[in-house]
Amino acid sequence: MSDYQESFSRISPVWTRYTPIIAKRAEGSYVYDLDGNAYLDFTCGIGVTNTGHCHPRVVAAVKEQAGLLLHGQVNIVMHIPMLELAKELRTILPAELDGYFFSNSGAEAIEGAVKLARAATGRPNIVVFQGSFHGRTIGTMSLTTSKTIYRAGYQPLMPGVFVAPFPYSYRYGWDEERTSQWCLDELEYLFATQTSPQETAAVLIEPVLGEGGYVVPPASFLRGLRTMCDRYDILLIADEIQSGFGRTGRWFGFEHFDFVPDIMTVAKGLASGLPLSGVFSRMDLMKKWATGTHGGTYGGNAVASAAAVATIQAMRDEDMLGNTRARGAQLMTGLRHLQEEFPAIGDVRGLGLMVGVEFRTQDRQPDRDTAKAVVHACQEDRLLLLTCGPWDNTIRFIPPLVVTQEQVDQGLGIFARALSQVT
Ligand SMILES: Cc1ncc(COP(=O)(O)O)c(C=O)c1O
Repeated sequence: MSDYQESFSRISPVWTRYTPIIAKRAEGSYVYDLDGNAYLDFTCGIGVTNTGHCHPRVVAAVKEQAGLLLHGQVNIVMHIPMLELAKELRTILPAELDGYFFSNSGAEAIEGAVKLARAATGRPNIVVFQGSFHGRTIGTMSLTTSKTIYRAGYQPLMPGVFVAPFPYSYRYGWDEERTSQWCLDELEYLFATQTSPQETAAVLIEPVLGEGGYVVPPASFLRGLRTMCDRYDILLIADEIQSGFGRTGRWFGFEHFDFVPDIMTVAKGLASGLPLSGVFSRMDLMKKWATGTHGGTYGGNAVASAAAVATIQAMRDEDMLGNTRARGAQLMTGLRHLQEEFPAIGDVRGLGLMVGVEFRTQDRQPDRDTAKAVVHACQEDRLLLLTCGPWDNTIRFIPPLVVTQEQVDQGLGIFARALSQVT
């Protein structure tokens, strides 16, 4: 650490820092620090390295493409990796979603999706859900309601954003169907009182709430939402930035709920760590997005696109979705056993390897202190975890989709030890 002390102190403190670790290299499920200590990484760089750190096939594709063409700006030349990526995407997306735009980060993809929705409908307003996270630019921050800290001091924000309740059954203390119906009713109420359907371009939702607490909505809610959007000709945008690319055991989160969005956004797992994001939609909508009205210098970068092609192929050839479902079931079972033993765990929920453990005090209040103390104790024992949720009282488990049975057991063992120490 000492060689880097001065440089370390030059890095802006605006970044929240979870650990003091300086990573030298990483492989599969482990990150190694300067002294060679191995950390079991159940954060995946916030849901990015889904194929595991430095998957050999992704690394090989990056090396090869770097020697061929680093940057071929799309306004000027089309490059092979983007065309290969479009071909691969056709094999994993619903047939309707046949138009692709690429950018660099999740927030940029969300900005693009909102612009596309406005351009395609001629309507201004966007409806989002309580607890959602869509990014940190001025536009996407305006769509984000997962914590007040993300907006504090940055107001005024972009107007035309309306917030509806997300069906977070555990928080309301209701069963799923009651929560689902109440939230659909509240959305109808919002259309009657705040933004009329005729001035609403899109409803934007994370199929599984990410930063807002790893909350899985009832399927009836998403199906009801699809029906409502169809009735009012409002576009339904699925933000799959955290839930996409195999994370939930399907290619995309929405597949669990039996609906197809009009527009979707992806980033994170798409290119295994290289900056790449996308806005995917029906081509008839894309054709309403007038040429030249959106773009970007680096979007769909050749090396990042090559990494994405290798990511999709590796995920398919190695059946990472199957492994995600099996290891996800193992993880959930293990965590539910721990819930029986440790009353501080209020809820265990998730899909595939997108799993959250919510901590509550005895009187059912959000228990941030315990969640943070458990994460810290795990870190001391070389397991990396993150928290999420408005009160930071939910620990999220986001292991790579290549995690093994032994590694899940190892993680559960460390987590159990931390719970014994802290609670
Ligand atoms: C669901 C969701 N949308 C958007 C974003 C923003 O992505 P980025 O940080 O790449 O801008 C994130 C990041 O965590 C996210 O989880």
